[in-house]
Amino acid sequence: MKCIVFNNLKGGVGKTTSAINTAACLSRAGYRTLLIDMDPQGNASKNLGMPESDFTITDILLQNAKIKAFNVRENLVLIPSSTQFARFETEAKEKLRREELLSKAIEPIKDKVDFIIIDTSPSVGLATVNAYCCADYLIVPMEAQQFALDGLNQVLDLYKAIREQLNSNLDLLGILFTRHRKNVILNKDLYNAMTEAFPGKTFETVIRENVALREAPHHTQTIVDYDLDSNGAKDYVKFTQEVLNRLGI
Ligand SMILES: Nc1ncnc2c1ncn2[C@@H]1O[C@H](COP(=O)(O)OP(=O)(O)OP(=O)(O)O)[C@@H](O)[C@H]1O
Ligand SMILES: [Mg+2]
Repeated sequence: MKCIVFNNLKGGVGKTTSAINTAACLSRAGYRTLLIDMDPQGNASKNLGMPESDFTITDILLQNAKIKAFNVRENLVLIPSSTQFARFETEAKEKLRREELLSKAIEPIKDKVDFIIIDTSPSVGLATVNAYCCADYLIVPMEAQQFALDGLNQVLDLYKAIREQLNSNLDLLGILFTRHRKNVILNKDLYNAMTEAFPGKTFETVIRENVALREAPHHTQTIVDYDLDSNGAKDYVKFTQEVLNRLGI
């Protein structure tokens, strides 16, 4: 089992879009996949059409409820989130080993899945720290935009701090460029600059700006359900293959 967290401390860069569609591509390729929504916004849960649930990540992490995931697609199960999960930041502070609550919680399910994909919120809080502590790999989705580098530096600082203090097993799998527009010079320049600055760390696949990716969540569909011929679907299928290659799978 490999656990991958998608995080960037900047909002709206495609974390959720990348987490759900990578999870969808993995499950479609036959890998048993668990998606964990660690964001109180609950976008991953909503985008997959998960009805408001009484049982969420909050129950598992704060009430010690037995881990349970919902079937959302063939080979794809989800642990949903909800606004309730915002409580985690204050209530988990009372707990011992509060950074490791998620890693402990997933123990019983680890052998039952091939991949765990975690979607996170754009803030550095205990929920995000728990996700980093649980993961084997970090993928940083980023938009090639002005100030994008500030967000990236913050993520890399967090990544280094976690590696040094809490999870030495965590590895940066790569930086994924999202919402790429090939005619925008900044997009190309930033991609090239980043590839130079982080050799081997930028994914070759970039996710193009694609209207189907924006539409699919409104139909509670992943991009591969919604339009397999879209550039969005092609990019996430290709990206998932690149992830598997990087993992030597
Ligand atoms: N490649 C793309 N092409 C077009 N629209 C996209 C693309 N990627 C993401 N979007 C849209 O951009 C918006 C933000 O994406 P998303 O929700 O994935 O970002 P996020 O990083 O998870 O945001 P947050 O920080 O709020 O959790 C959404 O409306 C999504 O549909
Ligand atoms: Mg999100």
